[in-house]
Amino acid sequence: MARTGGKETGAEERAEIEARFKLLAENVVDYAIFMLDGQGYVASWSAGGERIKGYQPEEIIGRHFSVFYVPEDVQSGKPERELREAAAAGRIEDEGWRVRKDGSRFRAFVVITALRDGSGVLRGFAKVTRDVTELKRAEEELQTEVAERRRVEQELKELNQTLERRVAERTADLQALNEALRAEQAVRERAEAELSSARQRLAGIIESAMDAVITIDERQEVVLFNAAAESLFGCPRAEAIGAPLARFIPGRFQAAHAAHVEQFGRAGVTSRRMGSQRIVMGLRSHGGEFPIEASISQIDQSGKKFYTVILRDVSERVLAERKLRESQEELHQLASSAQTAREQEKGRLARELHDELGQLITSLKIDLSFLKSDSPSPSQRAKIGAMEGLLDAMVAASRRIASDLRPLMLDDLGLVPAAEWLVQNFQQRTGIDCDLTVDPPDLDLHDPHATAIYRILQESLTNVAKHAQATVVKVSVELDNDEIALTIRDNGRGFRLTDPRRPTSFGLVGLRERAYFLGGIVVIESEPGKGTAICARIPAAPSGGPAAR
Ligand SMILES: Nc1ncnc2c1ncn2[C@@H]1O[C@H](COP(=O)(O)OP(=O)(O)OP(=O)(O)O)[C@@H](O)[C@H]1O
Ligand SMILES: [Mg+2]
Repeated sequence: MARTGGKETGAEERAEIEARFKLLAENVVDYAIFMLDGQGYVASWSAGGERIKGYQPEEIIGRHFSVFYVPEDVQSGKPERELREAAAAGRIEDEGWRVRKDGSRFRAFVVITALRDGSGVLRGFAKVTRDVTELKRAEEELQTEVAERRRVEQELKELNQTLERRVAERTADLQALNEALRAEQAVRERAEAELSSARQRLAGIIESAMDAVITIDERQEVVLFNAAAESLFGCPRAEAIGAPLARFIPGRFQAAHAAHVEQFGRAGVTSRRMGSQRIVMGLRSHGGEFPIEASISQIDQSGKKFYTVILRDVSERVLAERKLRESQEELHQLASSAQTAREQEKGRLARELHDELGQLITSLKIDLSFLKSDSPSPSQRAKIGAMEGLLDAMVAASRRIASDLRPLMLDDLGLVPAAEWLVQNFQQRTGIDCDLTVDPPDLDLHDPHATAIYRILQESLTNVAKHAQATVVKVSVELDNDEIALTIRDNGRGFRLTDPRRPTSFGLVGLRERAYFLGGIVVIESEPGKGTAICARIPAAPSGGPAAR
């Protein structure tokens, strides 16, 4: 377009632009669009301005635009600054608080554009203000919403992570549990395998055991019967299993045996030897009876009781024991009769020494006194005197020998004087203080008791003299409750009872034998350094008992 009549055309154009601007400003109600002059005074007003800021055109046109600003901004010179910046840059944008006519504040988005004419002279400013309070709130809401969503998302994420961690943990737990279970299973399998091999071993041991092994249940019926049991009872296993145990016990013992097993079951002890008090008998299939030695044990298996009896045929042992007992008895008898024979022999010798030799010596002494009265020569007289001396010594010797063999006093005066003599004699010979008490004092014992007591005392005193190195010996003979008790107690060196007997020592054995013949016993108490006590206890025979030995 050609520019003709420059000025008019410019004025027309501006008027047109102003008209359009006005139109635009009038019709746009969401924005306050208005003009400021070069100093910032409101030059035009619009419907949007009225709506947003509350001013009528006549109220605001001509007033400085700083009334739209909050006091703090006014004070800091913000309105002038913005105009300066807009003039410099052509346009500025700002978002901030503004004030309505009624003083209320709103959030505004502001664009200020510098208006210049064709020659570049500043003619004023166009200002567009938009109330963005709602927008801002919406934005803030959106932001809070977004923040909330982020938070929720974060929470969800954390929750998710926790969940995942829990799942992982739980999975690990489950895996560990699984492994533990697997390990346990392996252990159990191994234990079962071991158990089964142990069972097999046990079965093998039971089967090959030399002793018969029988297991019975609560009803006393056989549930296990090993090979040794088969051959012992002469009964095949197939027949024995399920049979009552009574089948293997002689009839007269059955009831007692069943009661014994039941009582054992109630007693609750796990094992016990059977027949320690009495002989237990077994019964073979073909009827023979035999003595057995048995031990019984019990176990509780799932509430059921099982008894296992291990037994052995002891016929041979019982037989051997009986034979041993018999032979011991025979030996005792033999020793006893040898003792008696010796005692009789000694008595006879003593008596012969006393009577025969005594008679002869007495006759010799009478003959010598005849010779003496027959006026012998001095040398003959001396010879006769010497011979008399020898004869006296002979008398003394024969008396001593006789009484060593057997004190005639024992037969003639009884035990108490003989014992007194023995004790006195011992004291004289050894110098050891020896004291005898007899209770009751008038105790009168007959043979064989008197001889036995006398000989036990004699041997004990000999031992004291030989071994004890004692200074005091106390002897007592007492009759108490139809039992004779002889005690010889010394304060000597004593000895160890457990020491083995010397093969040549028969003194103490002899004591025991003598007591044993008469149904008595000898108890020896001794300890090195603590003296020795020999105590013989023999049942007293009724007065006028067995004949003298
Ligand atoms: N009163 C005692 N004090 C110390 N030791 C004693 C006493 N009596 C016996 N003994 C010990 O006991 C042992 C066995 O005594 P025992 O009378 O059986 O045999 P012995 O006296 O040695 O021989 P024997 O009596 O056969 O001649 C003695 O050797 C001695 O060691
Ligand atoms: Mg002796």
